[in-house]
Amino acid sequence: MTSVTLSAPAKLNLGLAVTGKRPDGYHDLITIFQAVSIEDRLTLTPMGPPTHSEDRNATRFSCSDPTLSGTDNLVVRAVDLVRSHTGRADPIAISLDKAIPAASGLGGASSDAAATIMGLDRMWELELSEDVKHGLAMRLGSDVPFFLRGGSAVAMGRGERLRQLRKRTVSWYVVAFPRLTSPIPRKTPSLFAALTPEDLRDGANILAQAALIESGDDLEPRLLGNAFQRPLYELRPELAAFQDAFREAGAPFVALSGAGPSHYTAVSDQARAERIGSAVRRLYSGDATVFICADDTAVDRDD
Ligand code: C5P
Repeated sequence: MTSVTLSAPAKLNLGLAVTGKRPDGYHDLITIFQAVSIEDRLTLTPMGPPTHSEDRNATRFSCSDPTLSGTDNLVVRAVDLVRSHTGRADPIAISLDKAIPAASGLGGASSDAAATIMGLDRMWELELSEDVKHGLAMRLGSDVPFFLRGGSAVAMGRGERLRQLRKRTVSWYVVAFPRLTSPIPRKTPSLFAALTPEDLRDGANILAQAALIESGDDLEPRLLGNAFQRPLYELRPELAAFQDAFREAGAPFVALSGAGPSHYTAVSDQARAERIGSAVRRLYSGDATVFICADDTAVDRDD
């Protein structure tokens, strides 16, 4: 058995509608996930069969960002879940090289978790079925199943009911991740909890955007609404400055990814994206990391 290295792409939400609250505490939503080429790298290395009983189930985890290297990292939880599902106790080492900022609305932790499931499946030759991988992914988080395949997909339910989209054009994205003056505690649940009935939509706009994507049309900015924008701007009013910064930078639109705080725009060529990105860096009054990236295509699975 040798090491396995995987890349774990970020995602953008090309619009996000929350349609209602469910009895189980989650919300039903409709969104388009788009995998993009900002990528973490995950390397799994077998450490041989356990020679002492304390080696059983040993997972040595290291991360380029030491603040994320605790055992509460979703990668470690993904290993534990695969171990308990399969009974595999072999000690392993995992190293994670982060490029996707944490708590950014770009899905980094979810993508790392999905890559862990896929990496263990490959390294341990588990041949887990798509259904089993999907089930394990869902237990780790609502966004995790999308990353088993990546590409573009419409997501419904908690975010786990997926319909893959064939995106016919290539988009380049300018993604800006702002450093907040103070982080939002428990950001995702807090923003879901802050939604009011006025923030709910039926999601017809998202399905209309999906149809445009499949016909090879450009993204329609009017269909990119995100339910979290109102509560997020209410909590962190400084983020509204992105609207002006992107617009003055010549961006065709500015949209929010996930529960934020990352904002993005899309254009059809790299040079234009670079120009807009430089201008956003200059114009945004706060501190932000700006990425230029493109669509990341789906993992092809013929089985
Ligand atoms: O699924 P995940 O663990 O990422 O969700 C974190 C929290 O976000 C949930 O506990 C819930 O409060 C909220 N959530 C929700 N509806 C969803 C997804 C997440 O209310 N569809």
